[in-house]
Amino acid sequence: MNILDKDIFYEAAKKYGTPLYLYDLGEIKRRIKLIKDTLKDLNFKIFFAMKANSNPYLLKFMRSYGIGADAVSLNEYKVARFAGFSPNEIVVNGNGKSIEDISFYANEKPMCVNVDSYEEIKKIGDLPMRIALRINPNVDPKTHPHISTGLKENKFGMDFETAKKVIRSLPNNLRLVGLHCHIGSQITETEPFIEAFSSLKSFAKEEKLDLEFVNVGGGWGIDYMDKNDGINLNRYKNDILPILSSFDLPIYFELGRFIVGSSGYLLTKVKEVKRTPHKNFVIVDASMADLIRPALYDAHHEIEFLSGKSEMIADVAGRVCESGDVFAREIKINVPEIGEVGLIHDAGAYGYSMSSNYNLSARPSEVAFDGDKFILIRKRENFEDLLRLIEEDQIL
Ligand code: LLP
Repeated sequence: MNILDKDIFYEAAKKYGTPLYLYDLGEIKRRIKLIKDTLKDLNFKIFFAMKANSNPYLLKFMRSYGIGADAVSLNEYKVARFAGFSPNEIVVNGNGKSIEDISFYANEKPMCVNVDSYEEIKKIGDLPMRIALRINPNVDPKTHPHISTGLKENKFGMDFETAKKVIRSLPNNLRLVGLHCHIGSQITETEPFIEAFSSLKSFAKEEKLDLEFVNVGGGWGIDYMDKNDGINLNRYKNDILPILSSFDLPIYFELGRFIVGSSGYLLTKVKEVKRTPHKNFVIVDASMADLIRPALYDAHHEIEFLSGKSEMIADVAGRVCESGDVFAREIKINVPEIGEVGLIHDAGAYGYSMSSNYNLSARPSEVAFDGDKFILIRKRENFEDLLRLIEEDQIL
């Protein structure tokens, strides 16, 4: 939960306006340390899953702690380069890569391209590339169905039989340097990881693969409810590290949410407190256009209003015209005044990166707090930005 002083939030809201994404750099640093401490007995490297947050300042900040980048599109790759990562610090992911994407990567020579399918091997043709095979081990990660990726009905990766076929017919231009597996996101139990990594281990052994590394993806769940409901790192250490160590290879991780999730706050202001015979609504100036997770996955984010007189039960709803634009239903909050600042917690991952212009909302600004001062790391969009791609003569 919130470890910054209330005044910091008031000051940021006043200086930059709302809605606003505020990132606590100290928290990102603490999370990186926590990961490093958990994995200290392992030979490992972390690649940050940029889809969680691709702000270049934050990427650069993480890079200064020895973190690489996991890019899932050509644009993410280019932003990683813009933020200072060299190709050998970047791992490329993604299904449905185009031939243009593949030729670009063949030229750039990233650390590794994770190949998603047999068909992708055909697309690569005779271009030289370091590759890992993304295995879909058919394991239930016990998370929200929209963020499970390693079940056989999911579109990602290849089953073990297909992987065998790929290995047997691998052309000389491709160097198989690793196996990759990512079974889902916001995983809080250890069993799915145990099952997935054990089957990966048996496969590597059976196939007698001579690899440089094994990439076990990301997925570490965080404590959204503020009830210690994230992944249990002691259990991870005890139950999973022995399996990972047994590969006898460097283990790569692609963590997103666990590094930045808890560092981010979506700051908003109350626009209206609306009482109906049926229920109360607190309408705020943020919306599903800024943070879509509650509307899309029924995701829980703790919400608090910094001050208020008595308490009330209310839905906290956004400003866009959509019934699903509700951040939280029937929660107990301080009765806020109009203009009071509200905090939506744990919004650092899949917040800004999934934002949209729905209802012609302008995207919020992003600000980092370094413990001492604010740093504006992305400006707020303005009305002109919304019309930027329209040529006047198109509408005349
Ligand atoms: N590696 C691969 C190949 C992935 O597909 C993902 C996430 C990650 C790493 C990072 O996973 P993390 O450590 O952040 O769990 N929009 C959803 C999450 C989608 C995750 C997609 N893949 C949400 O807001 O919960």
